[in-house]
Amino acid sequence: MKKIAMLSMGVLVAIALALPAIAARPPVPTAPSKMALTDKVASDFDHATHTSVDCAVCHHEVNGAENFAKCSTAGCHDAMGSKEKGVNSYYRIIHDRKLENSCLGCHVKTAKAKPELRKALTGCKGSSCHP
Ligand code: HEC
Ligand code: HEC
Repeated sequence: MKKIAMLSMGVLVAIALALPAIAARPPVPTAPSKMALTDKVASDFDHATHTSVDCAVCHHEVNGAENFAKCSTAGCHDAMGSKEKGVNSYYRIIHDRKLENSCLGCHVKTAKAKPELRKALTGCKGSSCHP
């Protein structure tokens, strides 16, 4: 009896370990996400206005695996100063125009196709991002 219990425990553990590999994507937050620093200078990020973009564009893979951690997770984009450069820079992943999946990089591209959105999506103060 004990052996069977141990065995089924083993099977359960194996299933639990295998799950992340075939994990479904987590549910999309229904309310706007409060990103780090949004209290001071920016609006929250709203998934509802970004449904045309695939999750993986923003939630890019980490070490070959799907990843939905917060941007500023320790060891990720956790250098918070606005002068920070390099892959860890939080400012850069929001504002680097050369990155296709930074907020501003994609907004600049979007505004090229839809010039009427230029001020809202690429402006600083008074834009949709920094109202
Ligand atoms: C245009 C970019 C973008 C797209 C597309 C996107 N997200 Fe997000 N998502 C974000 C941002 C930005 C945050 C807030 C991250 C932070 O707080 O650092 C976030 C947060 C989340 C969180 C909460 C993470 C946490 O720990 O608080 C989940 C879960 C999530 N997204 C799932 C999804 C799923 C599933 C999809 C696709 C259906 C998706 N997202 C599409 C940018 C995006
Ligand atoms: C890959 C493309 C892409 C990325 C990356 C992206 N956006 Fe957007 N964003 C869009 C598009 C497209 C729209 C909608 C334009 C329209 O109205 O048709 C939009 C609209 C917005 C708006 C105005 C609508 C609203 O929700 O109030 C805000 C604010 C915004 N984005 C914030 C962000 C932030 C913050 C990030 C980064 C965390 C981000 N976006 C990243 C494509 C992108």
